[in-house]
Amino acid sequence: MTPHDHHSSESHGHHHGGGRHGARQPEAFNPARAALLDDPARFEHLPPDKILELLDAPAGALVIDFGTGTGTFAIELARRRPDLRIVALDNQPAMLELLRAKPEAKSLRNLEPLLTAEVGRLAASADRILAINVLHELDDEALGQLKSLLKPGGVVLFIDWDSAIERPIGPPKDHTYTAAEARARLESLALRVEELPAMKYHFVLRARRAERA
Ligand SMILES: C[S@@+](CC[C@H](N)C(=O)[O-])C[C@H]1O[C@@H](n2cnc3c(N)ncnc32)[C@H](O)[C@@H]1O
Repeated sequence: MTPHDHHSSESHGHHHGGGRHGARQPEAFNPARAALLDDPARFEHLPPDKILELLDAPAGALVIDFGTGTGTFAIELARRRPDLRIVALDNQPAMLELLRAKPEAKSLRNLEPLLTAEVGRLAASADRILAINVLHELDDEALGQLKSLLKPGGVVLFIDWDSAIERPIGPPKDHTYTAAEARARLESLALRVEELPAMKYHFVLRARRAERA
């Protein structure tokens, strides 16, 4: 991947004052770039076993992969942990179509692709939420929705491109957060946040509802 793989020049239009208040990245993920999400080289800097360990999901848990894209990580989790129910959530139908076209989408019984518009029935029901490379795309409304999916005592794992880490790949630094910036944003929305050791290019934040503290 080249430094520009994630953002073509034509996608750089800033829409300040538009409908995505609070999002660090001005535009939604472009489904035309979805193939990047299926690059197996990603597992070298985002190892699924490590992510599963950090997620620490109890047996039988409901796990929502928020902003699943093509389901790259949802599939890895569902394959490794047949006891978990993995809901692969995205707000772009085009992304979920790419997930549904994968053979695993049919063979893994514990994997359920779901459109954000239909997520209301899962309010307050997630034991764990995974959000990989998603926080910088979420506006305040989406982040509020993410939070509303958490069960009391539930935990969110935010893993996102770290602006403070020198990296040859990923979105431009002004489209992403440092761990401290991400943490401040989450805390301002009444989440209690714990910073875990960073990965090669990503910060890792574990969050839960502050009112459960
Ligand atoms: C950079 S991709 C990452 C996909 C996946 N997590 C991965 O790492 O392979 C971000 C995804 O988040 C989705 N997304 C952005 N805002 C969302 C929202 N409010 N609700 C659900 N999905 C969202 C985008 O459509 C896109 O598929």
